[in-house]
Formats: sequence, C-alpha cells, structure tokens
Amino acid sequence: MSKPKVIVTRRWPEQVETRLAEVFEVRLNESDRPMSQDQLRAAFAQADAVFPTVSDRIDAAVLGAGAPGAEPLKARLCGNFGVGFNNIDVAAAKARGITVTNTPGVLTDATADLAMTLLLAVARRAGEGERHLRNGEWTGWRPTHMMGTQVTGKTLGLIGFGRIGRALAARAHFGFNMEVLFHDPTPPSAADARALGATACDSIEAVLERADFVSLHTPGGADTRHLMNAERFARMRPGAFLINTSRGDVIDEAALVQALDSGTIAGAGLDVFEAEPQATPALLEMENVVLLPHLGSATLETRVAMGMTVLKNAQAFFAGEEPPNRVA
Ligand code: DGY
Repeated sequence: MSKPKVIVTRRWPEQVETRLAEVFEVRLNESDRPMSQDQLRAAFAQADAVFPTVSDRIDAAVLGAGAPGAEPLKARLCGNFGVGFNNIDVAAAKARGITVTNTPGVLTDATADLAMTLLLAVARRAGEGERHLRNGEWTGWRPTHMMGTQVTGKTLGLIGFGRIGRALAARAHFGFNMEVLFHDPTPPSAADARALGATACDSIEAVLERADFVSLHTPGGADTRHLMNAERFARMRPGAFLINTSRGDVIDEAALVQALDSGTIAGAGLDVFEAEPQATPALLEMENVVLLPHLGSATLETRVAMGMTVLKNAQAFFAGEEPPNRVA
C-alpha cells in the first residue's frame, strides 16, 4: 500500500524528521523558510496531510483550494505542530472535511518553566542586570544596586487554569511559597485547586486586584483578543507584573506600553506578541520588560515530543482510527 503523502511546513528536530520519512512519503522544508499563503494553499491541494506550525496562517483562503476553478483539495488532515490552534480556521477546515489535530500535554512543563523564568527575570531585573554587566557599566557591589522585587511569598494570579496554568501554580506554590489565585470559566473542583495551593476567584478583576504577579494562560482567538486592555491594567496593583506565555493578542500591546510608561504596572515578561515576529518598538526601549522570542516550548525534549505527537495523530488518522488529539 502506498504511504500517505505529507508536507511539513518548517524544519522539525532531526530525529522526528527521520521518523516521518520512515512512515510517510514526506516533503520536508529543508530551507526552513516560512511558506507563503500560496505555497500553503498548494500544499493542501497536493498532499494527503499538511503539518503546519503555530506561525503558519491556515485561513479559509488556504483551505479554499477546493473552490470552483481552483486546484481540487487533496488534504484530509491538518496536523498542527503546537497546542494552540488559533492559526487555523477550524470552521473552514471542518466545512471542507479536514480533520485538525494539535499537541497538548507534552509542552506543559516547558512552558510553565518559561513562565516562571520570565516572572523571576522581570522581578529580579535579570535582563537589565545582564545588559548592565555586558555593557561594562558595573562598578561593583553596593547595598542599593539594582534592587528588584522579592518573589517568594508573594501572590500569583492566573488568568486561565488549564494544564499550563496549573503547572505554574505548582511551581509557584511549592517552589516559592506563593499564594495562588486564579480565574477560569471552567474551574476544577475546589479539592483539585487546593491540591495545588490555588484559590478560585469569580472574575478576572478579582484576580487582578489582589495579585503581585499576573500570568496569562488563556487560548488565543477572538474570544480572548485584548482581554488585557487599559481598563484591566488599571485594575492591577501598582507594583504588579504581567507575564504572558499564551498568545500575543490576549494583550492590547499599545495599552500595555502606556501602563508600563505611566507606572500603572511595574513590569512585564513577554514570550508572545501581537504581531510576531515584531514586538511594539517602545517595548524594546524599556528596561522593566523581559522579552523572549516565543520560546515557551523550545526545549529539544519538548519539540521532539511535539513532533512525535503530530506523527501519532496522523498514524491513527490514516489507520482509520480516532486521532488522540483531534480538535476538529
Ligand atoms: C503552542 O504550542 O501553542 C506554542 O505557542 C508553541 O509551542
């Protein structure tokens, strides 16, 4: 029996690419250059499955290759390399009979670790301190030099309490003795929350008003776009910090710049941005922000596990079974 034809849109870790080539007739992207919308559209027309990443926009036009006059659509599976799938127009995929899968679970720890990294780095001025030293500006230890904010024992507020939010809660509560508050429209049982040292709040505002550090863990998409806006920054405590490892457009970045500039909040640690790969230029000039290039899941172990998860989903799909991580 012939192998399903698969197109992978970016480079994946070598061991996963090797395994893909054993299982499928695969076209890899050796240059690792992002594919254009036209190239993505052609991929869906030519392959049985396309494996995009969270930075490929799989919109209705890309999925519209079956429209009258266009090359007929061949793909039946879109195996996203990522847990977030707001890069995919899921309704359009569904309408065209394309199954969509994602990679939940395997990146929880790496992303929670990175959220804690940002929290510590911005509170303790680690980015600023490193720049200071590298620039040759350090004149020696002194009692008032570059004092930051204590993390241990403070209050962490989580907006969204799914896998990654809970993993961060455990790190903060058991590792740093933090009080943890959260808001989630579908909260876990009080007992499950208590086991992580976390307490539910009935609104986002209730979290913002009490937390020293606010960390965002919602999905992206229309429902959460600009969830953190000027009104909500004003509800945060003066001296509080904002951490974002979810999706860039959950924050109104222009309003964030204003909140940081005016001292409404003390700082921010950001791994994701509204218009990636660009960050709002004013952020680049600020010392009280720590900025990373969307590295939440970027460990070799995790990226291998993500690739293997895409592969498992596709193997199940082409064997006529239910893929373990179908989202549509
Ligand atoms: C995801 O998987 O959604 C991340 O943003 C990239 O790992």
